[in-house]
Amino acid sequence: MKARIVQADHFRSYHHFVLKAPRLARQAKPGQFVEVKIEGEQAPFWRRPFAICRVHGQYCELLVKTVGRGTGLLAQKTAGEEVDVLGPLGRGFSCQGKSSVILVGGGFGVAPLLFLAEVLRRKGRQVKVLMGGGCRDDLLLRREMKQTGATVVCTTEDGSAGAKGLVTKALEQCLRKKSAQTFIAAAGPRPMLQAVARLAKAYHVPAEVSLEEMMACGLGVCNGCVVKAAGRYQRVCKDGPVFDAHTVAWEERTNP
Ligand SMILES: Cc1cc2nc3c(=O)[nH]c(=O)nc-3n(C[C@H](O)[C@H](O)[C@H](O)COP(=O)(O)OP(=O)(O)OC[C@H]3O[C@@H](n4cnc5c(N)ncnc54)[C@H](O)[C@@H]3O)c2cc1C
Ligand code: FES
Repeated sequence: MKARIVQADHFRSYHHFVLKAPRLARQAKPGQFVEVKIEGEQAPFWRRPFAICRVHGQYCELLVKTVGRGTGLLAQKTAGEEVDVLGPLGRGFSCQGKSSVILVGGGFGVAPLLFLAEVLRRKGRQVKVLMGGGCRDDLLLRREMKQTGATVVCTTEDGSAGAKGLVTKALEQCLRKKSAQTFIAAAGPRPMLQAVARLAKAYHVPAEVSLEEMMACGLGVCNGCVVKAAGRYQRVCKDGPVFDAHTVAWEERTNP
């Protein structure tokens, strides 16, 4: 479907787009994603996946970090232009009815967590967001997260904002005070997700993670995105991207 970009903000390597996409906005659930067709000279063949960052009314937001050819071309888009998006795709977060949810996001991993924080707050859940990045500029959507009413804690590896260190250090501090109602939802780079899963296991807390595997078709057809979870190979694009952290075979990589 074609979606018009009604707002495009660019900050260093990050790009925030607001798309007019009524059907997508109506159907999307936190943790689901869209596949964006990249257009332009030497555009990659496959669409590129991006988490749905927030929805309001007829609008959907995406947060894109430039890392290569596809995201580089997408970054040049401005308000008024159209993009071809497919979605919503995949299975999102469930958070299994627990009343106190800790969201852990690294880099652009905060994108799906903003949508999740808004939905959980609307349901009256208590939400604490732990945001981590290399430096201050990597702490994205801080203001928007605070506006959801969630408690927001920031960490940076260089100490330029929030507490110095990894976001998993802040998570461990929270888990020391956990209750039976605590649930963890995380999105970000795989090493961070693996560390979150390790802590969740050590503290006996249920956890869901959104995996950012590289994808080809994005539709469950090519098996290009499989991971081992719950004892079998599963497609991140169709069976995920959100999985129970305790069931992922973290040591087994099928997708380099
Ligand atoms: C479910 C899902 C949700 C995502 N949500 C977002 C989001 O909200 N915002 C965002 O900016 N990005 C997100 N990504 C990652 C994004 O899809 C990739 O960064 C993008 O496809 C790279 O395309 P490219 O053509 O620019 O890079 P390429 O030229 O294809 O590759 C450039 C570099 O990026 C690395 N790369 C490619 N794909 C991925 C990937 N999936 N994860 C990590 N590294 C990758 C490659 O290894 C290579 O080093 C998501 C990925 C998945 C699977
Ligand atoms: S990317 Fe083709 S099956 Fe997932």
